[in-house]
Amino acid sequence: MVETPAGKMAVGMVDGTPFATSNRCRHLLASLGEGKVVDGCLECPWHGARYDVSSGEMVLGPQGAFKPIAGAVKSTLGARKLKTYPVEVRDGAIWLVG
Ligand code: FES
Repeated sequence: MVETPAGKMAVGMVDGTPFATSNRCRHLLASLGEGKVVDGCLECPWHGARYDVSSGEMVLGPQGAFKPIAGAVKSTLGARKLKTYPVEVRDGAIWLVG
């Protein structure tokens, strides 16, 4: 998680490409910046919902105890995409651009 003038963001790299998204999971508001990249997606640290970091779309609903309602969560709370921000790598650091 990174604090910026535009708010808190989850920032990282997927397959060599940098990304920055809004930080709060659409399920129960976990900090996505504490999550990890799995199979090209940003995975929530609490219940494993996954997001496409290029679009902000929730591509997998929450798992574990919430797995039986994963589809319902994805189609309701998860229907609101994360914000995504344009970023690029300069001198080994990820920068907001644009
Ligand atoms: S808070 Fe992210 S999946 Fe539950």
